[in-house]
Amino acid sequence: MTRYTLLFAAAALASGLAANAQVNEMRVDVKKPGAPIQPTMYGLFFEDINYGADGGLYAELVKNRSFEFPQRLMAWKTFGRVEVLADGPFERTPHYVRLSSPGHPHKRTGVENEGYFGMGVKAGEAYRFSVWARMAQGEASPSKIRVELAKPNSSSERHTLAAQALTVDAKEWKKYTLTLTPEVTEAKAVLRIFLESPAPVDLEHISLFPAATWQGHENGLRRDLAQALADVKPGVLRFPGGCIVEGTDLATRYDWKKTVGPVENRPLNENRWHYTFPHRFYPDYYQSGGLGFYEFFLLAEEIGAEPLPVVSCGLACQFQNSSPEAHVPVQDLAPYIQDALDLIEFANGNASSAWGKVRAEMGHPAPFNLKLIGIGNEQWGAEYPAHLEPFVKAIRKAYPSIKIIGSSGPDSEGQQFDYLWPEMRRLKVDLVDEHFYRPESWFLSQGARYDRYDRKGPKVFAGEYACHGKGKKWNHFYASLLEAAFMTGLERNADVVHMATYAPLFAHVEGWQWRPDMIWFDNLASVRTASYYVQQLYALNRGSHVLPLTMSQKPVAGGENQNGLFASAAWEEKDNAIIVKVVNTSNKPQPISIAFAGLKKTEALTGGVCIKLYTDDVDMDNTIEHPQAIVPQESPLSVSGSALSTTVEAYTFAVYRLLKTKN
Ligand code: AHR
Repeated sequence: MTRYTLLFAAAALASGLAANAQVNEMRVDVKKPGAPIQPTMYGLFFEDINYGADGGLYAELVKNRSFEFPQRLMAWKTFGRVEVLADGPFERTPHYVRLSSPGHPHKRTGVENEGYFGMGVKAGEAYRFSVWARMAQGEASPSKIRVELAKPNSSSERHTLAAQALTVDAKEWKKYTLTLTPEVTEAKAVLRIFLESPAPVDLEHISLFPAATWQGHENGLRRDLAQALADVKPGVLRFPGGCIVEGTDLATRYDWKKTVGPVENRPLNENRWHYTFPHRFYPDYYQSGGLGFYEFFLLAEEIGAEPLPVVSCGLACQFQNSSPEAHVPVQDLAPYIQDALDLIEFANGNASSAWGKVRAEMGHPAPFNLKLIGIGNEQWGAEYPAHLEPFVKAIRKAYPSIKIIGSSGPDSEGQQFDYLWPEMRRLKVDLVDEHFYRPESWFLSQGARYDRYDRKGPKVFAGEYACHGKGKKWNHFYASLLEAAFMTGLERNADVVHMATYAPLFAHVEGWQWRPDMIWFDNLASVRTASYYVQQLYALNRGSHVLPLTMSQKPVAGGENQNGLFASAAWEEKDNAIIVKVVNTSNKPQPISIAFAGLKKTEALTGGVCIKLYTDDVDMDNTIEHPQAIVPQESPLSVSGSALSTTVEAYTFAVYRLLKTKN
């Protein structure tokens, strides 16, 4: 279904049917700005799913760099004499490899790493190789290695993209670095290390990063992906998940304490997404912990978002564990509660406190100013409030100003939802995290969802949501449009909805488990989807206060006689702007007229801008090959008097920004 066929059909219909010429008359009351719209309102939710962290945002190019995968040499090819040993320099990552001479001058010994679906390297860009190494015990002469980036499945010189020699001259473990600068771009390079001396060598934590990471951090993030996050100007960053917070079992839950301190000594964790969907099975998907809680806090700070860490409440993933034995008994929760308290100290404690010291030694003496914490992911049943309660008590006592986020379970409504909301009220959590991955019909019917919410008690955090097309469970524009429509209801109800984050955030084109997602990437490039632009348009045009917007005295929420329209309005105090968002979910152009009531005699509206998101084919989205197919289109906007008359084309999300000036 293309935009042109639709417009043509609509025009033909319009000539015969007077109803289509009907102007949708809306009214915005500018006199009394309503509820404040929280700065946290539009944010981001990060989870290590779809290779979102290792192989994605985390810029490390070497997979299984510390030989800690259960199959120690997974992701490595070895040739010649390679042994895996387990008495390395890092207590929590003890494995390393020893390369010894193959015993013949024409034979070779070495290792080759495949990266994450290969290693993406760009011509002329520098890559920082580092390795912990030592001369193998008992040897007197230095060892030599050759480090090279090469095209895959190749061994001849002409396939080498960059190479450097390195002499390992110390008997004790020491970090060595060198730079590789390939002359050509290659999406699927491999990293090879050859032993070049008769003397053997021990190698541990073999790492390769682009020199140009986000903000230049050594243990850094991929620049294009972090920039995409920064460009949203998000109000909040929820991390590290999702289901990975819970783990498939308690042993594999996300334990933040294992993700801080020297990166070489962070133990490996299993990533539950490697086996969750047998049809998308990735047996080599683990969490290195390289993108850990320090890095998340730093990222949040650098992109201007409030950090929102989520910790385990002692319940392993309830989808995967029906037996009560899988979880921590409530009376044994003390260490888990201590983890939550220690996390707050890690983020906010001064540098002389036990955990504040860890943060300071990692390079951030100033506190991160944490204000929010999530306890548990989408838990359910009577066990959830029972587990949550002691956390709430302990956190309230030690840190009364920290806001606690509870959960209403995995469903947008129904038995668990109806049970958990009153429980969250009883426990007086500050916000309730709602999750909804739902089809088009749900999004079309939920424009007024929050109009009906209780104004007292906890606020809403729509922490995971996305429109999953029925039979079209992948990124396409129509789903994004319905997300935009639904979000008018979040904005209109900003007194009760304080935060919202789309999910999931990232997906590798070759390694995804779950779609749709907000940002896709391969080893060299990334693409912002239509859903990304919807989120960004809301965040960049948030406004500071809600303005009432009605059509025939009713909110515009896709209701009866509203012609598939959804709308909301806000006032931005800083530049005295009025922002109106209109989503036309119908297949017909909709003429609208917006009367701005309540302007003072001394005030006038001047034109501003109109930003529209639309496409010719609503079944399509941006792709790596065509990343700009659907991007916001901006044009000047003029108004006459105190009204705006215009047409919102079929299947279009429009943002109108007007300025209130003195006349
Ligand atoms: O976003 C993917 C998953 O969906 C999250 O891990 C979980 O919280 C939800 O079920």
